[in-house]
Amino acid sequence: MSNYHIKHLEEYYQVYRKSVREPENFWEEVAEEHFMWRKKWNNVLSWDFSKPEIKWFEGAQLNVTENCIDRHLVTRGDKTAIIFEPNDPKENSEHITYKQLHERVCKFANVLKNEGIKKGDRVCIYLPMIPELAISVLACARIGAIHSVVFAGFSSTALSTRINDSDCKIVITSDGSYRGAKTIDLKTIVDEALESCDGVKSVLVVKRINSDIQMKDGRDKWLQPLLDNASADYEAEIMNAEDPLFILYTSGSTGKPKGMVHTTAGYMVYTAYTFKNVFQYKEDDVYWCTADIGWITGHSYIVYGPLANGATTVMFEGVPSYPDFGRFWEIVEKHKVNQFYTAPTAIRALAKQGLELVEKYDLSSLKVLGSVGEPINEEAWHWYNDNIGKKNSPIVDTWWQTETGGIMITPIPFVTPTKHTYATLPFIGIQPTLMDENRNELKGNQVDGGLCIKFPWPSMARTIWGNHQRYKDTYFSTYENKYFTGDGALRDEVGYYRITGRVDDVIIVSGHNLGTAPIEDAINEHPAVAESAIVGFPHEVKGNALYGYVILKDTGESRNHNNLRKEINQIITEHIGPIAKLDKIQFTKGLPKTRSGKIMRRILRKIACKDTSNLGDTSTLLNPEVVQDIIENVL
Ligand code: WT7
Repeated sequence: MSNYHIKHLEEYYQVYRKSVREPENFWEEVAEEHFMWRKKWNNVLSWDFSKPEIKWFEGAQLNVTENCIDRHLVTRGDKTAIIFEPNDPKENSEHITYKQLHERVCKFANVLKNEGIKKGDRVCIYLPMIPELAISVLACARIGAIHSVVFAGFSSTALSTRINDSDCKIVITSDGSYRGAKTIDLKTIVDEALESCDGVKSVLVVKRINSDIQMKDGRDKWLQPLLDNASADYEAEIMNAEDPLFILYTSGSTGKPKGMVHTTAGYMVYTAYTFKNVFQYKEDDVYWCTADIGWITGHSYIVYGPLANGATTVMFEGVPSYPDFGRFWEIVEKHKVNQFYTAPTAIRALAKQGLELVEKYDLSSLKVLGSVGEPINEEAWHWYNDNIGKKNSPIVDTWWQTETGGIMITPIPFVTPTKHTYATLPFIGIQPTLMDENRNELKGNQVDGGLCIKFPWPSMARTIWGNHQRYKDTYFSTYENKYFTGDGALRDEVGYYRITGRVDDVIIVSGHNLGTAPIEDAINEHPAVAESAIVGFPHEVKGNALYGYVILKDTGESRNHNNLRKEINQIITEHIGPIAKLDKIQFTKGLPKTRSGKIMRRILRKIACKDTSNLGDTSTLLNPEVVQDIIENVL
C-alpha cells in the first residue's frame, strides 16, 4: 500500500482511516518520503482551535523552491516544467525546462536581493499570466520574501488597499497585458495605486506589450536588464516550517479583504499530495489548470503542487473566447493535455456555444477533468462529461477555499465513483462535519447543515495578516473548536458531500430552508436557460419569497416570457417541490460577477428588495454595466 498515491477505493478508505486515527504518523510518513528537508521536525503537529494556533512540522527547515525545482534537476532537468501558451495563438508557445526554470528563478532572486528585499519582506506581484508571474512567485519563495499576488484584473484602488494592508516594499508588474483582443495598461493602474502607497520604494517592470509607458525616476526599473546582469546561482534561504510563504487576499461578506497567510512546510506537503492524487498525475502527463495565479487555485495547482511533483504545468495567458470559443480545446489538442482543471462558469459559457467548436479538435489526450470555484450544476456537469470527457474522463468536482490552501472534498479519479453535483468524499486527512442550527454535530447520513472541519490539515491558513482576532472571529467562533467554512452541505446515504452554497445564501421561505444552488440547478435544466441566480425578498405571508434572475440562451428565436416563467416554475416544482417556486422571474442579459466568476448575490438581493440606494462596492465586478440594466428592468 502506498500512502502517497491512492489507486483503489479500498486503498482510499484504508489510508483515510489511518490519516484520521493517526494523523501525525500519517503526515510524518508523507513528509518524510516525498520531500527534501534541510532539517527534520521536532513535532509533527500542535494545535489549539480556541486561540487559534496551528503548527505543522515545527522545527523543520526547508526551502519550497528546492522541492519544486532543485531536487528535480538530476532526473528531470530537461523535462518541461512550464508550458507558456500566449494570448495570441499566432505567437509561439514557450517550453521552460526545470533547468531553465532554476536559472530564471535564481536570477530573479538575485534581482530582488539587489533591490534590498530580505527574508520576511512583502512583495506585491501584479502581473498577467506570463512566465515571469510564476518565476517571481518562486523567486520570493527562494529568498524567503512573502509574496502577495494581486490578480491583474483588480482596479488601482483594490491594488493599493492590498499593498498597504501588508506593507509591501516592492511591486512587480508589466507595461501591460493582453486579454483577448484587448490590451490593458497595467503600469498605469500601478502608478495610480502607488499614489496612495508610501511604503513602495521600487517597481520592477516586465516588458510584455511594448507600450509607451511612464517610468518614474528612481522608482521604476525595467526588469530584463537587471536579469541579464544577475547571477544564475542563488543559494536558497533556509526557512522554518511555519514561516509565511505568501499572503493572498480573499473578500469576506463584509469589511476589507482578508489577507490569508499560508506558511511553508504544511502548505507544500498538502498541495503536492493533493495534486498527485486528485489529478492522478503520471510522469509524462501534461497538466493544465485554466485559473489565474492571482487566485489560490493558481498558487496551489499551477505553481506549487505541480512543480513539487516534477510535473509539466501549462500557463495560459488568454481567455476562453479569443480568437473564438474553441481556444481551450485548441490548446488541449496542441499540448496534448491530460488533466484539465477549470471552473463551472467557464464550462457554462462554453456550453452555450455550438459543439462544432469542440468537435473540431482532438481531445483524446484528456484523462481527468476538474471543476472548482462553485457548485457545478447538473447540466454543465453532463455537458462537460459527455462532450469534453466523452464519458471517459472522470470529473473531479473539487471543493476547497482560499483559506484551506488545498483541495478538501473531492473524488479521486478512477478511485471514487463520481456523482454529479457532489464533491463526494473528504480527501485524505480531512475531517468534515455538518452542524445543525443548535450548533450540534449532525450524526449519520442524509443530513444537511453548516460545513465545518474539526481537525487541522497541513495547508490551512494560519491567520489573517495583521488581524488575528478577525481570523478567530470569522472561522473559529461560530462553532466551538471547529473551523467553519461558511458553506452549507448535505451528506447523502453513502456519505458523499454535496456543497449547497454559502450559508449566507440560504433563504427561508415559509419556514423552509432553501439553498439557492439546488433551485438554480433545477432552473438550468430548462433547455432555454443559460444561467440563473436566486435571491430572497421580503414577503408578507411567507417571510421571504424567491426572486430569480435568468439568462436565456442566445438561440435567435424569441420566446413568450410568461410561458417560460410557468415552465421554469414547473421544473422547480418537479425537482424540489412547489415551496421552491419563484414569485418573480426577471430575464436579464447578464449577472453581476466577481472577477473569479462568482455571482454577486448581495447586489441582486438588494435590487430584488428595491433597495438600490447603497449597492456597496461594485468596483471589483467583472461586468459593472449589467447592474444598471438589471435595476431598470426590476419586477
Ligand atoms: C468558496 C471558496 C478554491 C478555489 C476557488 C475558490 C465555493 C469552491 C467549490 C465546489 C461548490 C465551491 C465555496 C467556497 N466553492 N469550490 N467544487 N463546489 N462550491 O476559492 O474564492 O476562496 O471561494 O467557493 O462556496 O467556500 P474562494
